[in-house]
Amino acid sequence: MTDIEKLQDCYHQIRTITDFMPKIALVLGSGLGGFADDIQVVDTIDYKNIKNFPISTVQGHRGRFILGYYNNIPMVAMQGRVHYYEGYSMQDVVLPIRLMKLLGANILFLTNASGGINRNFSAGDFMLITDHISTFVPNCLVGENFSSLGTRFPDMSHVYSYRLQDLIRQTAIELDINLKEGVYVQLTGCSYETPAEIKMLSILGADAVGMSTVCEAIAGNHAGMEVCGISCITNMASGILDKPLNHIEVQQIADRVAPQFKRLVGKVISKLQ
Ligand code: HPA
Repeated sequence: MTDIEKLQDCYHQIRTITDFMPKIALVLGSGLGGFADDIQVVDTIDYKNIKNFPISTVQGHRGRFILGYYNNIPMVAMQGRVHYYEGYSMQDVVLPIRLMKLLGANILFLTNASGGINRNFSAGDFMLITDHISTFVPNCLVGENFSSLGTRFPDMSHVYSYRLQDLIRQTAIELDINLKEGVYVQLTGCSYETPAEIKMLSILGADAVGMSTVCEAIAGNHAGMEVCGISCITNMASGILDKPLNHIEVQQIADRVAPQFKRLVGKVISKLQ
């Protein structure tokens, strides 16, 4: 099965379950999945019930689509995403993004947990993603181009919509949230970085590091979606503080800031009428 056949097959399977047409696609990162509780649910589809769909194996990632309304806005949320480090191809990793676009979503709202590289950040901060570095992971557009989805050489000069960036900044001010901004770099994982790697990434202009999101932003941009992203800085990256990193702590910080995160994302979505 080619990637496009797989995508179409997944789409048809979903269409046998629901005819719901979301306008917004939201990807919920580690520990941030609680936002889904505020959605007026129309349909829930477990990834494992979609044949050929890549399934997340990470703790704290539930693995389902939630289709429904947030303040009357039709949306689809991914509670859990798949990562490249789980062994899937980049084409598989971005399949859900393309699928949500086929379902009707034209706005892609990405969220994640990341390590802070910028020394002005602290654990628990939110960072508006203003740009990204994709150079350290395979590009999801390598291989046959699906011209029905997008062009062969898509422009990446503003992946993250200026309109949505402004909306997020404005909303953070209204909610009295101190929103940081910066460049997110995706690495493959799944080990955390060494201090030398973080120093390198800092020199290259990255403010936060993680193991997701960039490939999804590329796929969304390729498919003509309006993309935005917020990263939750769950820890300072390796070597910045003299402290080893672990996944449990990353999740604990994400849990702590989840209520504030829900308010920010919720208010931004409410403005997207
Ligand atoms: N590095 C990579 N990915 C991460 C980190 C980190 O420090 N924190 C959360 N996700």
